[in-house]
Amino acid sequence: QSADQTPGKKVLLAAPRGYCAGVDRAVVTVEKALELYGPPVYVRKQIVHNKHVVTTLEKRGAIFVDETDEVPEGATVIFSAHGVAPVVHEEARARSLKTIDATCPLVTKVHREAVRFADDDFDILLIGHEGHEEVVGTSGEAPDHITLVDGPDDVDNVTVRDPEKVVWLSQTTLSVDETMQTVARLKEKFPALQSPPSDDICYATQNRQLAVKQMAKDTDLMIVVGSRNSSNSVRLVEVAIEHGARGGHLVDFADEIQEEWLEGVTTVGVTSGASVPEVLVRDVLAWLAERGYGEVEAVIAAEESLLFSLPNELRRDLKARR
Ligand code: F3S
Repeated sequence: QSADQTPGKKVLLAAPRGYCAGVDRAVVTVEKALELYGPPVYVRKQIVHNKHVVTTLEKRGAIFVDETDEVPEGATVIFSAHGVAPVVHEEARARSLKTIDATCPLVTKVHREAVRFADDDFDILLIGHEGHEEVVGTSGEAPDHITLVDGPDDVDNVTVRDPEKVVWLSQTTLSVDETMQTVARLKEKFPALQSPPSDDICYATQNRQLAVKQMAKDTDLMIVVGSRNSSNSVRLVEVAIEHGARGGHLVDFADEIQEEWLEGVTTVGVTSGASVPEVLVRDVLAWLAERGYGEVEAVIAAEESLLFSLPNELRRDLKARR
């Protein structure tokens, strides 16, 4: 037994955790673009919702902007993993920007579903969080056909043109359980409601929640590494508490953990959101080990091996450079 282990105290470490395939692709896209074109490279919105990732890329020459009109004419702009509405592509074209679209392919899939159901003149009930960038992007594909449903309590407010022609779609990073509650309420109201052709909540979101569910009841304190604006990270804290963790906190960095959270705590659960680099988890484990929680046990809920290729525009330029 090493000095950092206190008998009885331990960490349960969730797997999978951290980077998903879409985040990995988006971050590598910015890194490669910086190498290839040289700084500055503009990025519309945070490439992924993580403070550490954004500040690291900023130091290397990425400039994060809110809208394309902040990008100088003719410059290169990368669209974030959360996706953009078609109107943003048009704005970029009008300013002669070179665009690289780092939208996660699993978000693009939902965009395509939205377009298809809108073409068939369905009312689309998009379950998601009001104002989240992904929801703004997806809604922009068919603004006249899409109504946002922000959780089960929002169902009472929903109206449609034809209750026989309704489908639900969702944001990719929601709580699986809460979404099913929303769908159940919607089905009561619209019995003919159709479901998306395949899961809109992505594999990474589902797997990270699954791991947290498995360990929650054995956990006195769940520490989720992730940023406040990261939807999937925030959901992990909620899922942990719902499934029996006695406490839970979201932290961007190890130094945000407060000593008093550990009072009376035997088992600490640790996980991280899909936009979180592993180095930040290692910092948390080191912080905990210094306080006697050096024993680490993995809780493995699923294996992941998905990888996405880089955006076509970038691959073409990388190839030309060789
Ligand atoms: Fe894509 Fe899911 Fe990650 S939608 S960006 S794989 S959290």
